[in-house]
Amino acid sequence: MSGRAVSDQQLREDIVEVGRRLWTRGFVASNDGNISVRIGDDRVLMTPTAVSKGFMSADMMVVTDMDGTLVSGAPGRRPSSEILMHLVAYRQRPDVRAVVHAHPPLATGFAVAGIPLDRAVLAEVVTTLGSIPIAGYATPSTQELPDAVAPYVTAHDGLLLANHGALALGADLFAAYYKMETIEHFARISLVARQLGRENLLSRDEVDRLQGLRTRYGIASPAPICVEPDQRRPTGRDEGALLRAGATAPSAGRDDASCQVVFAPSTTGDRLVPDTSVAQGAATTTVGTGGEIRLTYAQLTALIDEAVKQVSEGLGLVR
Ligand code: 13P
Repeated sequence: MSGRAVSDQQLREDIVEVGRRLWTRGFVASNDGNISVRIGDDRVLMTPTAVSKGFMSADMMVVTDMDGTLVSGAPGRRPSSEILMHLVAYRQRPDVRAVVHAHPPLATGFAVAGIPLDRAVLAEVVTTLGSIPIAGYATPSTQELPDAVAPYVTAHDGLLLANHGALALGADLFAAYYKMETIEHFARISLVARQLGRENLLSRDEVDRLQGLRTRYGIASPAPICVEPDQRRPTGRDEGALLRAGATAPSAGRDDASCQVVFAPSTTGDRLVPDTSVAQGAATTTVGTGGEIRLTYAQLTALIDEAVKQVSEGLGLVR
C-alpha cells in the first residue's frame, strides 16, 4: 500500500479488515483495541470508541485533527478513548502513517509479567523490529498513556504496554498490523522456548550482521540496534520483581529513546539466561563437560511431555 495514494473509502475498508483480523486471531476481546491511519498533516482516520473491532463497517470510522478534536463521523460516533496514544506516535514519528493497538494474550502476558521481548532470539525479529520494550503502566485513556509510550516510540515500531497490551506502528496500515502479528508470534515462540527450559540466544556478532541486513535489504527502522554489554539478565520472575520495585526498565541505564536495546551474549554458547532444563531434571540429570545435559530416553520423553502439557495449558489448548 505504501507509495501509492489510497482512497479514503479504501482506508476505511482496510481498517475494517484489520479489525476483523485482530478479532479473528483473538488479539482483542469485547471492544478492545483501536486502529488509526494518518490521512493528512492534521487529519487522522480512526476507529470509534466502544465497538467490537471484529464487526465494524466503513461508515463507522471518525476523522479527527492532530489535537484529537472530532472533525467528522456518523452521529453518535466518538474517537477511540486511546486517541492520545495514537497522536503521540504520529507527532514524534512523521514516518508512521498507521497505529494498531490490541491486547494479544501472549504478548500481553509478557507485559503483565514485566518481561520485555528484547532478547536476540529470532533473526527476523531482530532485523525488523529490533527489540520490543515495555512502556510503564499508565491508566488507559488518560494523558498518562501517551506520556508512558513517548520515550519508546521514537526508536521502536513495536512495544508492550505494562498490564495492558501492545502497540504497533507502521508506514501503512497493513505494515502496522503485521508488526502486531510478529509481536504476538514472537511472544508465543519465546513462551514455548522458556517452557522447554532453554533459550539459546544469537551472539552479538550475529546481531551486528543482522543489523547490516537492514541496510542491504532496505528495511526501514526508526533506530539502530544497540547491543547491551554482557551481563546476566534477570530471570522473568526477577524482572517482574524489579518492575514492582519501581524500576522502569530491567536494565539500569538502557537507552530506549535512541536505539533498540537487544540482549545478546558476546560469544555463541554464552548464555544471558539460566538453563532451567538442568534445574527441572535436577534429581537425575547430569551436566557433562562443556555444559551439555545428559538425559536418559525416558527422562527426555518425560521432559518433552511435561513441556508440551504446560505449553498447551498456557495456550488454552487443554482445559
Ligand atoms: P476504545 O474502544 O475507546 O478504542 O478502547 C478500547 C481499548 O482497547 C482501550 O484500551
